[in-house]
Amino acid sequence: MVVTGAGHGIGRAVAERFAAEGARVVVNDLDPERATQVAAAIPGAIGIPADVASKAAVDTLFDRVEAEFGRIDVLVNNAGNIYAARHFLEGDEAWWDQVLNVNLKGAYLCSDRAARSMVRRRSGVILHMSSGGATRAHRGNVAYDASKGGIEAMTRAMALDLAPYGIRVNAIVPGLIRTYDISDEQAAERGEVVPMGRLGTPEDLAGPTVFLATDDARYITGACLVVDGGVLVQQRSVPLDTFPVSRFPKV
Ligand SMILES: NC(=O)c1ccc[n+]([C@@H]2O[C@H](COP(=O)([O-])OP(=O)(O)OC[C@H]3O[C@@H](n4cnc5c(N)ncnc54)[C@H](O)[C@@H]3O)[C@@H](O)[C@H]2O)c1
Repeated sequence: MVVTGAGHGIGRAVAERFAAEGARVVVNDLDPERATQVAAAIPGAIGIPADVASKAAVDTLFDRVEAEFGRIDVLVNNAGNIYAARHFLEGDEAWWDQVLNVNLKGAYLCSDRAARSMVRRRSGVILHMSSGGATRAHRGNVAYDASKGGIEAMTRAMALDLAPYGIRVNAIVPGLIRTYDISDEQAAERGEVVPMGRLGTPEDLAGPTVFLATDDARYITGACLVVDGGVLVQQRSVPLDTFPVSRFPKV
């Protein structure tokens, strides 16, 4: 199985968990050092650096996967640029292209190669990492949110086209996940807006992602599984609510 962008953050935790469940994992990342180091720490894994936004690099990646393993049964399209914030009025074409090329076209290019291999065995699972930004806007993140809206539309459309070939396609929708450097104090403060009271960890995403790849999820396709501690379902965040948690019954 292949996890893109697995050299750090959510992808790393997902790759580690798949390996713990017995999968042979390919750790892809744009950063060769990250790909090599993370793969070295996972038993049986191999690290293959590649830019998912480049068709030539993706072809080389999947040629190697097929040569090494003979097949691909699970692909997790996790690679993404989470540092793309810019106000709409400060955006430009290069910014738009970079974000869309990595976050959306990259998932398409990898899925294309994986699906062509999966159809031969009439079996396979493709998972995309979406974001709450697909359905609720982040301020200053037009390109990112557009890419993730595209991911969820692509999830549904791919699910329909590939279902007759035994390939399931789903998305995971992470909430506020602590994959970047912030202090514990900052994390606690940001965590207050989450109904479950804390930021997510990369490991919070690993179990649900593995679940969607297992036979227990055999009748699930075209779905977007939200894993966010309740962020997307709330109208107002906890600190601003007119019915504050402090008024909840003390039971
Ligand atoms: N962290 C969050 O709060 C959060 C929330 C919602 C969705 N997500 C999504 O989850 C996924 C992982 O996010 P994360 O927070 O773990 O990010 P991260 O920055 O910690 O890790 C992403 C990894 O992807 C790699 N990468 C970047 N561009 C690449 C490319 N072109 N080709 C191959 N690898 C590339 C990076 O080198 C990095 O190692 C992303 O798709 C992101 O949009 C994250």
